[in-house]
Amino acid sequence: MPDRVQAVDFQAGKLVLLDQTLLPSEKTFLHLDDVADVWEAIKLLRVRGAPAIGGAAAYGLYLGVRGVPDDAGMPAFMAKLREVRDYLASSRPTAVNLFWALDRLVGVAEAATGDDVAALKARLLDEAHAIKAEDEAMCRAIGEHALTLFDGVDAVLTHCNAGSLATMGIGTALAPVYLAAEQGRTIHVFSDETRPLLQGARITTWELDQAGLPVTLITDGMAATVMRRGKVQAVIVGTDRVAANGDVANKIGTYGVAILAHEHGIPFYVAAPSSTIDFATPDGDAIEIEERDPDEVRRLGGRQTAPADIGVFNPAFDVTPARYVTAIVTEKGVVTAPYPENLRKVVLGG
Ligand code: MRU
Repeated sequence: MPDRVQAVDFQAGKLVLLDQTLLPSEKTFLHLDDVADVWEAIKLLRVRGAPAIGGAAAYGLYLGVRGVPDDAGMPAFMAKLREVRDYLASSRPTAVNLFWALDRLVGVAEAATGDDVAALKARLLDEAHAIKAEDEAMCRAIGEHALTLFDGVDAVLTHCNAGSLATMGIGTALAPVYLAAEQGRTIHVFSDETRPLLQGARITTWELDQAGLPVTLITDGMAATVMRRGKVQAVIVGTDRVAANGDVANKIGTYGVAILAHEHGIPFYVAAPSSTIDFATPDGDAIEIEERDPDEVRRLGGRQTAPADIGVFNPAFDVTPARYVTAIVTEKGVVTAPYPENLRKVVLGG
């Protein structure tokens, strides 16, 4: 398995994050012990990608309550836990892993009736570690299932970054690429640059290059030509939230890629750990789509690239309707339409 950089780690009592806003020019790790810094890191995309956001938030919640005195009493501890949960939940709205991870820790605390404050703090840290370890295993399992779809596939197109830097393992969409490499097989990746924040150009290409894996960078507008010229046999992307009907939210531009794949008869796969599947959200219209700072569109690399006060529409994600999704690859297996029934069957077991 090629080497990989850890996007999220916990060392010496601190949350260690690779600052992804500085890639590819700087490889800088942040060592955080203040929950406000964790909130800021999520908001500003220093840590990004749905599973990595969830992992960072879980550690952030622990850090936010670690300072509560052991003799504060359980009601005061639980009140602080819920306050910090809500605070971290306000950092970004779309990736469901954020809420999933925070609520998982709160659930552990609510169930731990016999614990005192000190024991509960230790239990919350253990739960954050468990989320990280499970994510690593989920990534691998997704990669194994995805590879079963990749017979005869020697090149794929991806959008944004759903690789190791978006997760706590080998990624979701890029997991089959890493596993193929482990087996001595090469799957070439065409990476959309992913405007406006360039996760594809800055992060996907950097990550694959660091791992010694072949990658070709294209601008978003080149995807149609790459498909038309037969350079890829599949598209695989990650997701921030899968609704119960199989609609998929992912980085802005994904919807267009799905339509292009459909037009060219190329399968469009979505890699999704079960932590990203939200049965409480009925369909894509119910997913809150984050809108970000207009300057992300008006400026590039610190330079003004549009008039400073020009109107901007800057949704960070879009929703691909389930009908364009050939399969959703989870750690529990490959799910195909009809998604409302089959997602439940595969992911919930019934
Ligand atoms: O805004 P970002 O960089 O957090 O967006 C990330 C994506 O859209 C990823 O594709 C998604 O979170 C899946 S990561 C396995």
